[in-house]
Amino acid sequence: MIALSTDDFGLKAKVLTEVLPYIKMHRGKTVVIKYGGNAMQDEGIRRMFASDVVLMRYVGINPVIVHGGGPQITEYMRKLSMEPSFVNGHRVTDSETMEIAKMVLVGKVNKEIVSLINRHGALSMGLSGEDGNLIMAGKRPSEDGADLGWVGDVEHVNVEVIEELLSHELIPVIASVGSDEEGNSYNINADIVAGEIATALSADKIIYMTNVKGILDPSGELISRLDAEGCSRMLANGDVSEGMIPKVSSCLAAVEGPVGRATILDGTIEHALLLELFTSGGVGTMIVQSMDDLLEGE
Ligand SMILES: Nc1ncnc2c1ncn2[C@@H]1O[C@H](COP(=O)(O)OP(=O)(O)OP(=O)(O)O)[C@@H](O)[C@H]1O
Ligand SMILES: [Mg+2]
Repeated sequence: MIALSTDDFGLKAKVLTEVLPYIKMHRGKTVVIKYGGNAMQDEGIRRMFASDVVLMRYVGINPVIVHGGGPQITEYMRKLSMEPSFVNGHRVTDSETMEIAKMVLVGKVNKEIVSLINRHGALSMGLSGEDGNLIMAGKRPSEDGADLGWVGDVEHVNVEVIEELLSHELIPVIASVGSDEEGNSYNINADIVAGEIATALSADKIIYMTNVKGILDPSGELISRLDAEGCSRMLANGDVSEGMIPKVSSCLAAVEGPVGRATILDGTIEHALLLELFTSGGVGTMIVQSMDDLLEGE
């Protein structure tokens, strides 16, 4: 073990006391976290993510996790000699692809996240949007003349299912699959699911964990603060593309609705969640309805 000097003790004590106002600020609040497939590639980072979520729970925050798993679905499709195809960032989902997406998201990725969290205690429950009819979905219309197959849009969130878990202090981990009244399954973009769930829960905050620093401007610089108007402008100008489009449009809908604020950050950096929640300024891009919503010093 490395001996600590008194300076190190001082630093540790300083860090611990600095966290106090943030714990007070977030305690009792609901925070939806979209955990992107690209941010969960590294085993060490996945373990850190799980322990950060557990720490959030223990300081009295209610985390709700919604996850993607695009790279993991692609990996399994290739194992079965299937080549994925995308239209405007949506995976074209025929019946066979839907079956694989469901197996990978619900059977593998979801259970891995739950298991990492539950190494710290019986803290988490995994579910897909089909469980308890949590996410009612309908078919997303064709885009650019292409039929997307079983790609869905969220029609309704039965939020009581999540509220029930939160009332038992459990951390819901939700796979972005939904179903319609006939029992058909749909593959839904996890960014959209996270935004809809945050809105249905009137969450205080939504955090998108991806593999870029946040929203980048056309010169590649990180934008650290953005309001609803700025989001609309970037979407209209085509300054965001591919996987960033559903994130920015979901953030926009969330902050224009009941969600206090949204953050898009790099989930591949160590303890990104703790830095975001418990340090001044946070990391990534913070999105608010209006810049006036920002308190002084934030
Ligand atoms: N203006 C922009 N700023 C930042 N990233 C952008 C921008 N426009 C497009 N992107 C792209 O969006 C990508 C992030 O979305 P992507 O869907 O790939 O990740 P994810 O949602 O975290 O993962 P998954 O979809 O597997 O859950 C970035 O890697 C980047 O290539
Ligand atoms: Mg994505």
